[in-house]
Amino acid sequence: MEKSGLEALLKEMSLTEKIEQLIQLHGNFFGGAELLTGPEAEFNLAEGTPLRIGSVLGERGAEKLHKLQDEIMANQPHHIPAVFMTDVIHGYETAFPVPIAIGSSFNPKLAERLAEAAAKEASAAGIHVTFSPMVDAAKDSRWGRCMESTGEDPWLNGQFAAAMVRGFQGEDYGEKGRMASCVKHFAAYGAVQSGRDYNVTEISERTLLEDYLPPYKAAVDAGVSMVMTAFNTINRIPCTINEHLLRDILRKEWGFDGVVITDYGAINEVVIHGSSENKKDAAEKAIKAGCDIDMVTDCYSSYLEQSVREGTVSESLVDEAVMRLLELKNNLGLFENPYKDGSPEDEEKYCFCEEHRELSRKAQEECTVLLKNNGILPLSVKQKIAVIGALADDKEIIGTWALFADKLKTVTLKDALERLYPEAEIEYVLSDSDTEKAALAAENADAVIIALGENQNYTGESRSRADISLFPEQKILFDRVYSVNKNVVTILFGGRPLAVPNEAERSAALLEAWLPGSCGCYAVADILFGKVNPSGKLSMSMPYCTGQLPLSYITFSTGRPKPDGAAEFIPFISNYMDAPNVPLYPFGYGLSYCETEYSAVWLDKDKMTSDDKITAFVRVKNKGYMPLKEAVQLYITDEKASVVRPTRQLKGLRKISLEVGEEKTVSFEITAEMLKFYDINMNYTAENGKFIVRIGGSSLTENKAEFWLEN
Ligand code: GLC
Repeated sequence: MEKSGLEALLKEMSLTEKIEQLIQLHGNFFGGAELLTGPEAEFNLAEGTPLRIGSVLGERGAEKLHKLQDEIMANQPHHIPAVFMTDVIHGYETAFPVPIAIGSSFNPKLAERLAEAAAKEASAAGIHVTFSPMVDAAKDSRWGRCMESTGEDPWLNGQFAAAMVRGFQGEDYGEKGRMASCVKHFAAYGAVQSGRDYNVTEISERTLLEDYLPPYKAAVDAGVSMVMTAFNTINRIPCTINEHLLRDILRKEWGFDGVVITDYGAINEVVIHGSSENKKDAAEKAIKAGCDIDMVTDCYSSYLEQSVREGTVSESLVDEAVMRLLELKNNLGLFENPYKDGSPEDEEKYCFCEEHRELSRKAQEECTVLLKNNGILPLSVKQKIAVIGALADDKEIIGTWALFADKLKTVTLKDALERLYPEAEIEYVLSDSDTEKAALAAENADAVIIALGENQNYTGESRSRADISLFPEQKILFDRVYSVNKNVVTILFGGRPLAVPNEAERSAALLEAWLPGSCGCYAVADILFGKVNPSGKLSMSMPYCTGQLPLSYITFSTGRPKPDGAAEFIPFISNYMDAPNVPLYPFGYGLSYCETEYSAVWLDKDKMTSDDKITAFVRVKNKGYMPLKEAVQLYITDEKASVVRPTRQLKGLRKISLEVGEEKTVSFEITAEMLKFYDINMNYTAENGKFIVRIGGSSLTENKAEFWLEN
């Protein structure tokens, strides 16, 4: 429909009808009041009231949504179609590795491919919008939602955000097999204090702008269709009514003119936060801040019309919000085809299809991180092996947001080993409490594989933990097994980096498998037996202990820095008495089975002006016996500036493949834009001076060169 048609439609709509468009409810709302829970239960609608809303949350299924659309359009005076939105976070019926694992692939192109496959499945099931990508930089693994993020680094999260928006939306999300994408949670949800979900954040404006906003901006620049407001506060103002965030930054500065939706019940929570007297006040503040859709509360539906009629809220604000939603529906093609791609035949054809199952496996090959290997890996099928731990045969390793995947179809590590390596002599002890049986199996084995960590029920929304070490029974199990066999390969499952210093120190090898999705354990098995060369890198620092959190490679000198490499406690220096400052394993770190050799870094020149650029080069060689993939990382340090600057920041990435003996030259262009920050006067600028560029295989690299910015 032409824009003029939308404008004509808007003019015909009553105020009541316009406000109804701004309401989003669960599909089960239509199942009758008895199904209602949470904020929806406060809708005081009489039984059988014909519900007139603009969008539906959380429903799926081509046939079901076809019927639901017909019902909604029949109730609607102008028969405006609804938008069907839900959380397609890392796959739809085929669960891909969770986002923190996808971040550990250091391969945004892979993320784009996974998003494209997810959109193909979900759009066939009648879904129009996904609440993804989640881009919140996560530096605190007490926060269960770090599972949903691609990691701690704002620049890397931005690369993944843009890739996923492209994967979901393509060039035109109205096309078949595509869906509109909603970036979340705006903003800085990953900075919740103490790693406790839904908590406040206490960060400076400069930290917000530099360490948290870039990935949302990257999604907006990539053309994301929607933005979801976060539950937390910024500057002690709930994001959902934060005009500085939503109007000044998102809409005015960034030019975002798409739909803003609140998170689940968030307008109602503005009252509970204590920054609104009542729902009416909260509704007024939310619409003024720029929130278009009220997710599952009755704040807009019960109070906004009164606020407009009494003049507290201008009707133009409602019109703007409705027009943005009508444009989204129009871009989806819903006025011409209200069912878009919903098709039972295509659902059958694409959902959990062989191609996507294989993609789930291939993805995990790049998401698994080898953190330690004394040479025990790869294993041989000629060895006698004991596989120990409940997580080795737990089907709940597909992630709490794998809402539409059938967890019974999950391939566990045991399934994968039995199917791929039937010739291997493996004994399984799949209980964490059966330490004596485990010890017996371990004693008789050449090598032990022990699966530890968390299944999906311990990570994700609201699942904050105050202690991120292993569960006590797992520590006991490890100790008992290690007491009889030192050849232990530890595999960590879970959605967050856990604190496992003692087990890591005693393991002969350590793999981070995250939550690998429907078929990812095939990849883990192939890595264990050397068919696949691991290439993952940690997208989030792995701490020694909970006390180090929040923790990131993005650190600052302080006025009393601890000398690099110093292990012991040094009085009157910035360090702990009982723990190191550095992580157990750092951001960007991961091993392969081959030696990857980096040449020294060289530059095409060592001085540049702001309208100039410098090119940095490095040669990378595969000195091993099998092909490898390597995430070549570029870090930049601004040594002196008008405000303190991080000791290094990731500013470039190349994921390369190298055949045996192959060497490639990798280059990065360095521009002044990459050197900008918010200076002492909050101007976004690059200051003259010396910079250090480092290029290597982790955030620890000291492979460096220097250059000067001289304007
Ligand atoms: C949840 C989450 C958000 C999700 C929304 C809709 O509470 O915070 O990530 O998209 O509700 O399910």
